[in-house]
Amino acid sequence: MNAFTYHSGVLWAEELPLSEVTADVGTPVYVYSKRQLEANYAAFAEPFRDLAPDIFFANKVNPSLAVLQTLAACGAGAEVTSAGELERAIHAGVAPGCITFSGVGKRRDELTAAVLAGLAQITVESLEEMAMLSEVAAELGRPASIVVRLNPDVDAQTHAKLSTGHKETKFGIEEAHLDEAVHLARTLPGLVFKGLMVHVGSLLTDFSPFRVAYQRLADHVRRLQKAGLSVDRVDLGGGVGIPYDGQTMPPFSDYVDLVQEIIAPLGCKIAFEPGRRLVGDAGILVTRVVRVKRGATRTFVVLDAGMNDLMRPALYGARHTLMPVRLPPSTGAEESRATERVDVVGPVCETADLFGEAYELPSPRPGDLMAFLQAGAYGAGMASCYNGRPLVPEVLVDGSSYAVTRRRISVAEQMTWESMAR
Ligand SMILES: Cc1ncc(COP(=O)(O)O)c(C=O)c1O
Repeated sequence: MNAFTYHSGVLWAEELPLSEVTADVGTPVYVYSKRQLEANYAAFAEPFRDLAPDIFFANKVNPSLAVLQTLAACGAGAEVTSAGELERAIHAGVAPGCITFSGVGKRRDELTAAVLAGLAQITVESLEEMAMLSEVAAELGRPASIVVRLNPDVDAQTHAKLSTGHKETKFGIEEAHLDEAVHLARTLPGLVFKGLMVHVGSLLTDFSPFRVAYQRLADHVRRLQKAGLSVDRVDLGGGVGIPYDGQTMPPFSDYVDLVQEIIAPLGCKIAFEPGRRLVGDAGILVTRVVRVKRGATRTFVVLDAGMNDLMRPALYGARHTLMPVRLPPSTGAEESRATERVDVVGPVCETADLFGEAYELPSPRPGDLMAFLQAGAYGAGMASCYNGRPLVPEVLVDGSSYAVTRRRISVAEQMTWESMAR
């Protein structure tokens, strides 16, 4: 399914022309499709139906309460990385028994909140964290179910800043310390050892690193089982990519086959933590051209969206497909426009506020509405108010209607969070 399609030359979200949203809410604005979220969840979950896995949606990828609520209604649990995300997930209706908590820097108060809530699983990322969690759980007299995150030392072959499974990164426990970690997990007071977890990185468009990492994980599970230890669950993390801006990648069925081949025979409960795959193509960022600036060597199309609204291009050098909301007529008419090669930038006072060079666009004009596709993952959740800009709003479309699920937070409102020097 593709929720964002043209009808008579105008881009719609489901059954709603985008211009109706922008007339009401203005720009920039994130627009999500409820049906696309539901379809993406089904496309992930269905092929694994026989394994009855836990599917924890990685909340950082899109923390919108409406998105969390939509996915929870489909059956998703939540993977959270802070007490704040935990609070939001519970508020959105996710039961604590369907939540897992990962991250290398969980503070004592965050571990306390997790233990008191009775989460499905806490992912322990270091021996030091294990000791702190044991103290917390023992003091509270409440057991903490844990999985040990293995750092399998695998190169995820993705962007360096999205790679989490090799030994130079801060994530997980290296193989050399795994046995000690499992021993502590089984013997320290307050802890209930459930199994192992790996997450090698995000935006994998080649599945071979999954094969290596899952094989290593499976070898360890079998070794522990042979030693008589029970390993109830394996958590395979997230990371399955989506094709951005014309990229290609293997079909999802290849990933399913890999899991069936390597992990299913272990006989453990399987958990996944997908993020991007569930929400990436379910959201777009709609923006307006402020001006077209003819520079000395380049033409800059300056948008009203900036790096504070969509940070991926500045942070990861990512490139999002940019489409006009209204296609110019292709032939004859005086309105028809030649294609032009332009650099697309935002208004933020940073050279890094560049969405991309050499975009081929039907010569853009001030006032034109444009949409960045596949902006549903790592988009609005990373947005900030940098450069004194209002926080970007979010809208959820359902059929021919929509709801503003986060209103634009004005600068006047932001200033009420502060006080003046005395
Ligand atoms: C522990 C963990 N789980 C799941 C995810 C989700 O990854 P993705 O959005 O690539 O599926 C991440 C993101 O990197 C993560 O760090």
